[in-house]
Amino acid sequence: MSERIPSIFDLEGRVAVVTGGNRGIGLAMALGLARAGATVSVWSRDESKNAQAVEAIAALGGRAGSVRCDVSSEDSVVEACARTIEQFGRIDVGIANAGFGVYHDPIELSLERWQRVLSTNLDGTFLTFREIAKHMIERGGSGKLIAVSSMVELFGAPKQLNYAASKGAIGALVRSYAVELARHDIQVNSIQPGWISTEVLEPIVDDEKTSNVLLARTPARRFGEPRDLEGIAIYLASEASRYHTGDSIRIDGGYSVF
Ligand SMILES: NC(=O)c1ccc[n+]([C@@H]2O[C@H](COP(=O)([O-])OP(=O)(O)OC[C@H]3O[C@@H](n4cnc5c(N)ncnc54)[C@H](OP(=O)(O)O)[C@@H]3O)[C@@H](O)[C@H]2O)c1
Repeated sequence: MSERIPSIFDLEGRVAVVTGGNRGIGLAMALGLARAGATVSVWSRDESKNAQAVEAIAALGGRAGSVRCDVSSEDSVVEACARTIEQFGRIDVGIANAGFGVYHDPIELSLERWQRVLSTNLDGTFLTFREIAKHMIERGGSGKLIAVSSMVELFGAPKQLNYAASKGAIGALVRSYAVELARHDIQVNSIQPGWISTEVLEPIVDDEKTSNVLLARTPARRFGEPRDLEGIAIYLASEASRYHTGDSIRIDGGYSVF
């Protein structure tokens, strides 16, 4: 199954969880991990999309399963963790990718809408990391936890107060978990994608005026594709990143340094 890549990136024998792994960035990372040899468990809410993701991984010759999971629910995450361990015996890599944002008026933003985004993006990352870390420590340590944050951690984000706050908090959570878990040989990092053309970005990509403004500010002169996140996911999930922890890595075509 593994392509001809140096063994330091080889994920053969590892079991990886990807929350929100049934489409977009999560699916691209799940496919990448499977190509590098990992068994992948997809945790998302839409069961038919989960099944399609498992089929796509199987079509590559990979091994995968899925669990219906709502990461904002503690019971759901606890159960997903237990079912994945039951199915595959262990979890070596946990990618907390599930997340969303909805543009809103900053002054009219209701507490309910604020909390809805925080509970998926931030609570979901916390619960996923907590449950998987508990398992990793119980089986003697060693593992990888990876959050998908956003480059909005670095900027003020117009009409995205709740989304930006959730991603900023994920950065702080990752650094704190990194400090707590290093003695168990568990590395914890986050990825900050730039503008990646998934379903959620379609309205922006399709709007010529807005997309031209963004592309003029992007040194790579294109939007990212979900598969642009594959390499960093493999690196952070593999032995290659064994001394790399507490970091946030930008994958944005240079947007944030221009
Ligand atoms: N696209 C970008 O430009 C961009 C930029 C920066 C950061 N990001 C981040 O990258 C991550 C993935 O984004 P994307 O663009 O790939 O989004 P997407 O295409 O909308 O996919 C979101 C994924 O999250 C899952 N999900 C949403 N709520 C969930 C919940 N409560 N429990 C479990 N799964 C849930 C969805 O599956 P179900 O609906 O089936 O549950 C889906 O698989 C997000 O954290 C996003 O904030 C994206």
